[in-house]
Amino acid sequence: MRLATPDDMRAYGARLAARLRPGDLLVLSGPLGAGKTTLVQGIAEGLKVRGPITSPTFVIARVHPSLRQGPPLVHVDAYRLGGDLEVDDLDLDASLEESVTVVEWGEGLVEGLADDRLEIHIDREAGDEARIVSLRGVGPRWADTPSDPLQG
Ligand SMILES: Nc1ncnc2c1ncn2[C@@H]1O[C@H](COP(=O)(O)OP(=O)(O)OP(=O)(O)O)[C@@H](O)[C@H]1O
Ligand SMILES: [Mg+2]
Repeated sequence: MRLATPDDMRAYGARLAARLRPGDLLVLSGPLGAGKTTLVQGIAEGLKVRGPITSPTFVIARVHPSLRQGPPLVHVDAYRLGGDLEVDDLDLDASLEESVTVVEWGEGLVEGLADDRLEIHIDREAGDEARIVSLRGVGPRWADTPSDPLQG
């Protein structure tokens, strides 16, 4: 998927959100400024959870409750993990089942939390603002997930 603008990225996230359900784990990767948080903003809009979705310096995990009857969004930015604070300290497994959990910089850290996960990689395109998003589903939950959530 090629997303030309931040608004396109948010719209993509909102479409993806329509396919999410409690227990889902999404692992976001890509370089600094790739658009991971921007994608989470779209997912939050689609899930209708309380915002705002930001990347605050000292908060690693934040719970965004649903404004409807849906699941909360647990947004984790694992960038600063690895020092005194480890992923285990966040107790994500306590909330995983009833939430949609999205982890930025979670590659190599959170795979142990669940057998199923959707890996989302975002890359910059040289020369312009566009971003390339690729999805890779791991486990039976994502067995038939197309790379474009509008398809299939
Ligand atoms: N097509 C696009 N999709 C997403 N973001 C874009 C796009 N074009 C430009 N941007 C800009 O790129 C920046 C992406 O920042 P964002 O915080 O979402 O990235 P990030 O991957 O979460 O970074 P970090 O690694 O610091 O957490 C924003 O300022 C956004 O407006
Ligand atoms: Mg971010």
